Amino acid sequence: MVAEYTSAAHTHTLVGWLIEIGASPDLVREGLRIVDDELVHAELSAEVLALAGGGPVPPLPRAALRLPRAEPTEAAVLHWNVEIFCLGETVAVPLFRKMLAGTTQPQARRLLRRIVADEARHRDFGWTLLDSLLAGPWGEEARLRLGVGLPAALARIREAYSGGASTLPEGAREWGLLAPAAYGEVLRQVERTWWRPRFAARLAADGARATLPG
Ligand SMILES: [Fe+2]
Ligand SMILES: [Fe+2]
Repeated sequence: MVAEYTSAAHTHTLVGWLIEIGASPDLVREGLRIVDDELVHAELSAEVLALAGGGPVPPLPRAALRLPRAEPTEAAVLHWNVEIFCLGETVAVPLFRKMLAGTTQPQARRLLRRIVADEARHRDFGWTLLDSLLAGPWGEEARLRLGVGLPAALARIREAYSGGASTLPEGAREWGLLAPAAYGEVLRQVERTWWRPRFAARLAADGARATLPG
């Protein structure tokens, strides 16, 4: 619930920046649709949490809902699009499918089916936006910045998904929770099948950076 609401906040900020740089109305509309999806995910998650007997959730700290912007707008769009969409939403697709596969509580299945149906579109938004940045007048700098920033961004998401227990408390799996160790397995697979080939293809135009460092 917290992650979904945070996604709505971050996507909304990113869409504001897209308007600021004159992005295509199609991209802006798709971004706004994603904000609404994430709010629906948060609302449905709150219902499932209540049904599962979860207690009240403390208010989110405002800072967690804000996307910091220290760079020029185009660079901030590139940076956060890579982190949130090309990395986060891309790994979310197989992750939520795996969650759904072992979930038996009907309301939790309904929530996860809705999320699974939406996440592939969110992932595709990120890659379309990345390609539009690389193809635009700012493309050369975008490619350079992508090559420089990507290893650290990959390291951050690997770190965030690493470690953790391989078991769950009794009854948690049926409500959709996944043991933390499973996150790392899914991430390693996505790194092999999605990130490496797709990022390498996009960096290849800058010959020297055609291969990603480990
Ligand atoms: Fe979501
Ligand atoms: Fe999403």
